[in-house]
Amino acid sequence: MTTTPADTRRAEAPVEPGLDLFCDDVLADSMPVFTRLREASPVVHLTRGDLWVITRYEDVRAALGDPETFSSTQVAFNEQMNEVLRGTSLAADPPNHQRLRAVLSENLTPRALRGMRAEMDAKADDLVRELVARGSFDGMEDLAKHFVTSVVMDMIGVQGDVREKMLAWGEAAFNLLGPMNQRAAASFPIAGELFEWTHHQLKTGDLAEGSMGRAVFEAAERGDIAPEGAGMIVHQYIAAGMDTTIAAIGNAVVLFARYPEQFQRLREDRSLVPSAFNEILRFMSPFPVAGRLVTRDTEVAGVRIPGGSQAAVLVGAANRDPRHYEEPETFDITRNPADHVSFGYGIHGCAGQGLARLEAHAILNALATHLKGYTVGDVQHRLNNMTRPFASIEVTSVDPA
Ligand code: HEM
Repeated sequence: MTTTPADTRRAEAPVEPGLDLFCDDVLADSMPVFTRLREASPVVHLTRGDLWVITRYEDVRAALGDPETFSSTQVAFNEQMNEVLRGTSLAADPPNHQRLRAVLSENLTPRALRGMRAEMDAKADDLVRELVARGSFDGMEDLAKHFVTSVVMDMIGVQGDVREKMLAWGEAAFNLLGPMNQRAAASFPIAGELFEWTHHQLKTGDLAEGSMGRAVFEAAERGDIAPEGAGMIVHQYIAAGMDTTIAAIGNAVVLFARYPEQFQRLREDRSLVPSAFNEILRFMSPFPVAGRLVTRDTEVAGVRIPGGSQAAVLVGAANRDPRHYEEPETFDITRNPADHVSFGYGIHGCAGQGLARLEAHAILNALATHLKGYTVGDVQHRLNNMTRPFASIEVTSVDPA
């Protein structure tokens, strides 16, 4: 191979031979590894899985904003799943992406969501009041999971016994985006059940009158959207919208216990709720790694990545990049980092972020209304290939407001 003068100016990515970005230890505590990779180089080549990791804020945003070079056709870290995802908005590139996303996000626009706010706030307020009255509770089981499943079930228009299944389906959907490790392999049959339920079992008549689920199934019956479109939309609400939002709400509970002075600030000034949620997302990314196919030879910050490579875009590392955020290791709810990349960036930027914000803002308001303070016990992550939820959060020393 000949070398042009331009090639000689390019840097080669440092190579890490042993690191598995999806092993138990990294999933249990990702930030030290993210920090090390980010400070080592803008791009690191992991020979394990042959991954090209993009680590710094500006480069992460640039990669997510350039779908021609960084294609979503390899958004998952295993071939089988990339095959399954073909035809979804998440895994599509322009020009198909726009059409697929339009169908999906029609019910998630600010206008569509506006009508849900009062009910969501009331639901969060009732739940938190009841939990505070108990004196102690599990911030994951009783709060985050309970609230998010209840919101999603109401949206779809279903009740009762699908709750536990929906939680398992939501977890499986994210495990499947990782490499084909034991977690991903075990998740295939569970995710298959979700597909079967949304695409073959759910019928218009099963869904509550007035629910969004019923509206999309009726739209499919009328021929306003493709016949399989209704099942696909419901599928996405569960697959993309549950484990991420559950993780984010759990993170809020833990962060406000670790930084009680920040919780007091929130209690004193509720206009900080949106800023606080942005900071929670910046500080702890619920979905910290996005997959992409590198379609052609390219350079990131002067470092070469060969065409055909699998990229891992580390939004979780970018959100704490000191080149972009001042004192990134400080949790400060007044900084309002609206440009964090926890919802991704560019054409694939989270289609459900309006809903996620509505849910989280309702919970933050309810916590600030009903609590003066609280403590949490030791927390461990529930290991998932792609999301970073806590397994459980023991909330005690509840001091009612
Ligand atoms: C705090 C909660 C959430 C977080 C952190 C989050 C994070 C993300 C991220 C990082 C992406 C971009 C993935 C990529 O570029 O490859 C994304 C895309 C997406 N999210 Fe979310 N998400 C959340 C909640 C939701 C909810 C509630 C829904 C739906 C009800 C949803 C639906 C989607 C969909 C459909 C996409 C794909 C959009 C596209 O490809 O055009 N998400 N999300």
